[in-house]
This record gives sequence, C-alpha cells and structure tokens, in this order.
Amino acid sequence: MLSDIEPLADLLADARRLVVLTGAGCSTESGIPDYRSPRPGPRSRPIRYMEFVRKPLMRRRYWARSMVGWPAIAAARPNSGHAALARLEAAGRVDTLITQNVDRLHHAAGSRDVVELHGALAEVRCLDCGAITDRAAMQARLRAANPGWIAAADTINPDGDATLDRDDYERFVVPPCATCGGMLKPRVVFFGESVPPQRVAASFAAVERADALLVAGTSLTVYSGLRFVRAAAERGLPVGLVNLGPVRDDHLIDARIDGPTGAALPALVERLLR
Ligand SMILES: NC(=O)c1ccc[n+]([C@@H]2O[C@H](COP(=O)([O-])OP(=O)(O)OC[C@H]3O[C@@H](n4cnc5c(N)ncnc54)[C@H](O)[C@@H]3O)[C@@H](O)[C@H]2O)c1
Ligand SMILES: [Zn+2]
Repeated sequence: MLSDIEPLADLLADARRLVVLTGAGCSTESGIPDYRSPRPGPRSRPIRYMEFVRKPLMRRRYWARSMVGWPAIAAARPNSGHAALARLEAAGRVDTLITQNVDRLHHAAGSRDVVELHGALAEVRCLDCGAITDRAAMQARLRAANPGWIAAADTINPDGDATLDRDDYERFVVPPCATCGGMLKPRVVFFGESVPPQRVAASFAAVERADALLVAGTSLTVYSGLRFVRAAAERGLPVGLVNLGPVRDDHLIDARIDGPTGAALPALVERLLR
C-alpha cells in the first residue's frame, strides 16, 4: 500500500487550503459500520423523514432502537485516520473538513473547522419549538420512561440504532420536548430530508477558497457529498481520494490510495508535513 502513497502525496504536496470530505468509511475502524461495506447479518432500511413525523409507531420504533444503539455510538473513539486529519488542520493546511458522518469523531480527534453536513446524533431537536438538547439527556429520559425494556441488540446499524428482535414498539414511550411538549427528533438529516442550506453554502464557499480536495472514506453514492467533488473538479482543483473500494464519479479523481483510512491518512499526512 505504501507504494500507492506517492502519487496522492505529490498531488496534494502544494495544497495550503485543503478541503477534506469524509464519510462513514473513516469511522468503520472506530467500530461504527458504514452502509456499503460487506457485512453479515440483517440490515435495516434507514427511516425516512415522512415516516418519522407522520407515523407514531415508526417514531416509537426509531427511538426504541436508538436507545439500544446509542451507548455504542457514545463510546466510540476516534481512530488514527481522524487524528491524522486533525493534525493536518493543526499544521494550518486544512481550510474546512466537510463530513457526512453524524458521530462527532472528527471533533473528538481535535478537528475544528468542521461542517457536519448531516448533523450529529449527539443532539436532539424539537420539531415544534426548535430547542436543541443533548442526546445524553434524552437517553436518560428514554430509559426512565421505559423501565424493563429489554435491550436485545442484534446489530448496531450505521444510523446509531440497533436491529431489535421484537415488534411490540407500541409499548415504547417517547418523551416529549421538556420545553413545549413537542416532537423530538435526532438532529440528523434523515432520508427524504434536505441538508440545511447554510451548511451547503458553507461547504461550497470552502470549495471556492480551496486549492485542493481530499476525499476519504465515502463511496460518494449520496449526492449530498458528491456535489462538492463535482464543484472542485469544475474549478480544476486537484482531487485526491483515500477509500476502500469503488466510488461514484471515479473519473473526477486525480490520485488515490485504495486502502483503510486508519493506515493511509497517517502515512499521507506524515508525508505532507515532512
Ligand atoms: N459514522 C457515521 O456517522 C455514519 C455511518 C454510516 C452512515 N452514515 C450516513 O450515511 C451516509 C453514507 O454515505 P457515506 O458515503 O458516508 O458512506 P458509504 O457507506 O456509502 O461509503 C463508505 C465507503 O467507505 C469505504 N470504507 C469502509 N471502511 C473503510 C476504511 N476503514 N477505510 C477506507 N474506506 C473504507 C467503503 O468501502 C465505502 O466505499 C452518509 O450520508 C452518512 O450521513 C454516517
Ligand atoms: Zn419544544
């Protein structure tokens, strides 16, 4: 793999205002699964925004599974790939890190200029009054409202929930907003929901200022991230990639490492800062 580093390092060697775009692949080595790597066991279809707001049973089911899945997300630690990106930023070489991840691991590793395109599981938002509260506090309320709810987690899913072998979700109690009694939702962008325009604008502005783009750990299947790669390519910026496996719009990539971010990013950053 080390033999693959040189072309990517050469491509990014002169970059002083890098934009980094990351995805779920950066966090698999921290124990949080992505959607597209092969893995055993059942996969659950992610909840859609309309189901969540319109169907009380789907909401109960979401929060029940989230209550079981949350401790694993909360306990996840950043890996050497996250650390390498934080180091590159601390060295003054990164303008903005745009992440599609909702796990806050880039922050935990020390990255500062981060756009959380899809929000963060660590926060809960009231759809009625807009109040933002802590997911950890919600966890305590969920547990208190559902004593004896047996946590039989079979699989932790990418969205921070768990696949539960049960179907009695109508018994699950979802606490309302403590301020207004309204409907609480994790502050993440669900399928069928759009990314808040300020986050998109901030990301495009970063690409406008940038002198190169580094993509890491994303299949670029979701247009939400892909559009920034297209914008960078349109501007004629060098576009580098660290990812296991194929990505969408592969022809826009100028140099790549086909390897795990946990090993490849530290090696790349080491080489860039030498
Ligand atoms: N950790 C998280 O916060 C998390 C996890 C799963 C999904 N999501 C959400 O789901 C969507 C998924 O899109 P995506 O493009 O981020 O993920 P994705 O699952 O589509 O793509 C992940 C890519 O990373 C690769 N990969 C896996 N492990 C890797 C490793 N160790 N090193 C290098 N590459 C690795 C996979 O082969 C795949 O190509 C996003 O919108 C995101 O919000 C978030
Ligand atoms: Zn409220």
